[in-house]
Amino acid sequence: MSKPRHEKSIELLNKGVADELLAIHQYMYFHFHCDDQGYDLLASLFKNSAIQEMGHVEILSERILFLEGDVDMKITGEVKKIHDPKEMVRCATQMEDESAKEYNQWANLCSTNADSASKKIFEDLVLDEERHFDQFSTEFENIEKFGEKYLALQSIERSKMVSTRVPTQNK
Ligand SMILES: [Fe+2]
Ligand SMILES: [Fe+2]
Repeated sequence: MSKPRHEKSIELLNKGVADELLAIHQYMYFHFHCDDQGYDLLASLFKNSAIQEMGHVEILSERILFLEGDVDMKITGEVKKIHDPKEMVRCATQMEDESAKEYNQWANLCSTNADSASKKIFEDLVLDEERHFDQFSTEFENIEKFGEKYLALQSIERSKMVSTRVPTQNK
C-alpha cells in the first residue's frame, strides 16, 4: 500500500484522539465520584465535558479516515484516581491547558506541511479547550474563594430536589 498523503497530520490527529480518549475516561471517572458525593453541578460539568470530548474524537477521526489513515484508538495515559473535588478541578484545568497548547503547536505543524484543513480542525479545538479551561478554572476559583461552603451548597440543592420530588405512580 502506498503511503498516505499527509502522514504527519495523521500522526498528530491520532495523538489528538489519544488525548481526547484520556480526557473522556478521566472526566467520566470524576463525574461518577462527584455524583456519588452529591456534587451535582460538578458532576454534570464533567459529564458534559466528556460528551464534548467525544465529539472531538469524532471530528479528528473523520479527518484521519479522509486522509486515508486509520484511527489508533490508543489512550494517552492512566486515569488519575482523584476523589477530592478541588483536586479534580485542578487536574481538569491542567489537562485543558495542555490540550490547548498542543493543539496550537499541531495547527502550526499542519500549516508548515501545507494541510490547512487539519490546521483548521486543531484551531477549532483550541477554542473549545480554552472554553473548558475557563469553566474549570471558574469552578476552581469558586472552591478556593468559598471553600467547603460552595461544595456544601451543591449537596443542599440535591437534598432539596430529592425531598420535594413527587413520586411517580406505577400502574
Ligand atoms: Fe477536546
Ligand atoms: Fe476539553
